[in-house]
Amino acid sequence: MQDVRMTGQHKRVFIRTYGCQMNVYDSDRMADVLRPLGYALADAPDQADLVVLNTCHIREHASEKVYSELGRLRDVKRDRRAEGRDLTIAVAGCVAQAEGEEIVKRQPAVDIVVGPQSYHRLPELLAEAERKAALLRNGKRLPGAGVLDTDFPAESKFDHLPAPLGVRAGSAFLSIQEGCDKFCTFCVVPYTRGAEYSRPVAAVLAEARQLVAAGAIEITLLGQNVNAYHGEAADGSTWGLARLIREIAGIDGVARLRYTTSHPRDMDDELIAVHGEVPQLMPYLHLPVQSGSDRILEAMNRRHGRDLFLGLVDRLRAARPDLALSSDFIVGFPGESDADFDDTMRLIEQVGFASAFSFKYSRRPGTPGAALTDQLPESVKAARLAALQALLGRQARDFNVSKAGTTTPVLFAEAGRKPGQIIGKTPWLQSVYVEGNPRLIGRIVDVHLTEGHANSLAGRIVTGSYEAAA
Ligand code: 5AD
Ligand code: SF4
Repeated sequence: MQDVRMTGQHKRVFIRTYGCQMNVYDSDRMADVLRPLGYALADAPDQADLVVLNTCHIREHASEKVYSELGRLRDVKRDRRAEGRDLTIAVAGCVAQAEGEEIVKRQPAVDIVVGPQSYHRLPELLAEAERKAALLRNGKRLPGAGVLDTDFPAESKFDHLPAPLGVRAGSAFLSIQEGCDKFCTFCVVPYTRGAEYSRPVAAVLAEARQLVAAGAIEITLLGQNVNAYHGEAADGSTWGLARLIREIAGIDGVARLRYTTSHPRDMDDELIAVHGEVPQLMPYLHLPVQSGSDRILEAMNRRHGRDLFLGLVDRLRAARPDLALSSDFIVGFPGESDADFDDTMRLIEQVGFASAFSFKYSRRPGTPGAALTDQLPESVKAARLAALQALLGRQARDFNVSKAGTTTPVLFAEAGRKPGQIIGKTPWLQSVYVEGNPRLIGRIVDVHLTEGHANSLAGRIVTGSYEAAA
């Protein structure tokens, strides 16, 4: 969970972000849309006139957290009203999309429900919510509370959103693709984010140039299925992700490129080749596999088997020998046997991951997986997750330890917890902390890595590179 804050203007908005990087990106864009209306970002909900919960629906506990937070906000709103003031509550993101009117029924204090495709309409929705609130204050009876927009409009929201302002410490996200047509049987994304859509090439390149002009030296291309990108170019041809990466790497000032998140089915030959040919493309790839069992992969409708994934890993490593891999895993999918789970453990051992995200299967209403009868008990899921995370944790530590003693460029991102410390990222997305001047934040500096730990590395700045960067 991440919070967006800023203070100082007339009205204030607090945006709480749950879930994935797409949501973090969208929260920044909502802040951009609200800024011209006079909204600055608040430090906490109790300092805000408007609170937006940008929600995640991917696992059950993610949506339940939203309802508990809404309960707390209802109390803040009630106290405010007792003092003659108000609080506007908006629910955005995938819970908004999936549950729509249900949200207002379950928590009538909610004023606005806005789906991920409609953020550009926030100003209109706010005006409508304010009109409704004024009518209610004057004792009018209204057919329903709350203002809703959860359409999937024909036009992309990108056609309406203002240019992004979000370059942080030299890093920026660039959303190039949204939605998903894969329909994995466990996943809500195709229902909450809609059909796959790729932004046109010209719009992506223009935004990349804007980000570089605003100080970005690292760009992460974002999409729910980013390597399914097929954007239309001005000459009517279609570009895949590989071509887009080559072009963006050619923009003067782009030192680092990354993309996330990918599907194994969309790793084509050209994209694999790009990993070996474009030096700015960082040697780190997040490639979710979910399971190492062919039977479970089939039941998940992943549309590939374990061999396809292992073959991709071999080819990617042949193209870029120092490539570090990360993945997502689900344990306890309905019907997963001990043997299926062993297949996943063996796949992890065979590949060796630098990092990973792993989850217990969460039954999501409306997905085909939820209708399967052989759901596993919580205790089995918990035991499997613990074993899997122990293995992945060892691999992550081993990977960090393997880099100790080497020197590598680090992009510094923020101040560390201890005074005088700054934290940055290696090409392999490892966190590194060093003694260093905060002026180096946003710059790439050579660091000698001294010690590898479970989640980070310690290092020391290589003196010559400090002067070069400063
Ligand atoms: N249960 C558990 N994990 C899930 N994910 C998506 N849907 C579910 C679910 N129903 C995980 C997948 C995906 C990541 C973003 O979230 O591993 O790659
Ligand atoms: Fe969900 Fe599968 Fe699409 Fe990923 S590829 S967003 S897991 S349906």
